[in-house]
Amino acid sequence: MNPSPTLKGQAALVTGGDSGIGKGVALALAAAGAKVVVNFAHNQAAAEATVNEITAAGGETIAVQADVSQESEVKAMFAQMYAKYGTIDILINNAGLQKDSKFIDMTLEDWNTVIGINLTGQFLCAREAAREFIRRGVVDGLSRAAGKIICMSSVHEVIPWAGHVNYAASKGGISMFMKSIAQELAPHKIRVMGIGPGAIQTPINKAAWDTPEALNNLLTLIPYNRIGVPGDIGKLATWLASDEADYITGITIFMDGGMTLYPGFADNG
Ligand code: BGC
Repeated sequence: MNPSPTLKGQAALVTGGDSGIGKGVALALAAAGAKVVVNFAHNQAAAEATVNEITAAGGETIAVQADVSQESEVKAMFAQMYAKYGTIDILINNAGLQKDSKFIDMTLEDWNTVIGINLTGQFLCAREAAREFIRRGVVDGLSRAAGKIICMSSVHEVIPWAGHVNYAASKGGISMFMKSIAQELAPHKIRVMGIGPGAIQTPINKAAWDTPEALNNLLTLIPYNRIGVPGDIGKLATWLASDEADYITGITIFMDGGMTLYPGFADNG
């Protein structure tokens, strides 16, 4: 375990904590001393594997199933969390997916599914968390804030993405969602932030890194010349949730090896 846990005793919920970036964040928060609810939508085996990894490292955790786009399931998930840990201190609004297609071929169903999980899911979870943060207030000795919400965005919050219009629209929406609730909740001592990952090696973008050709192609978009790993995002989320970042609210931090530097302009334009 971390010798100086910065999140000791705090209760965290990581939506989509069973795989990818969510798993990396769940492991990092637990290593920093947080009690972690690992939410999953369908893959119970993956969620249990995450829970086992955290427990083996001496952490405290449970897995809770919920589809974050469904209000009743979100409410039931928070009820389960409160039954186990009493409250919530940190929400990692992470669950998300892609349903890619050319714009003119995109079905309404694929549009609605992506907006429902990536954007409405963040609304439903943040609203529940904010209600509890305001009800409970600051807990002396635990954290200077009454609560922290971290919204997992993407570089596609600012980089347009042909063939992924539903996904990019959901991430652009997260930016204004995050800032607007940050403005509204700051007087309650609640901090709200975004993380904008670039290409992180996870199942969501396997096709972009699982052959040498694909990876070389991807690296032309990353000036720092490496693909990210979930642990990179885990470290940032842990720091943002900690009191070390107590004066930060209402911004997205991009963690992308320079993808948002538009490297195509390095020798062009
Ligand atoms: C997407 C990945 C993609 C990355 C960089 C992420 O938000 O989910 O599929 O590789 O952005 O384009």
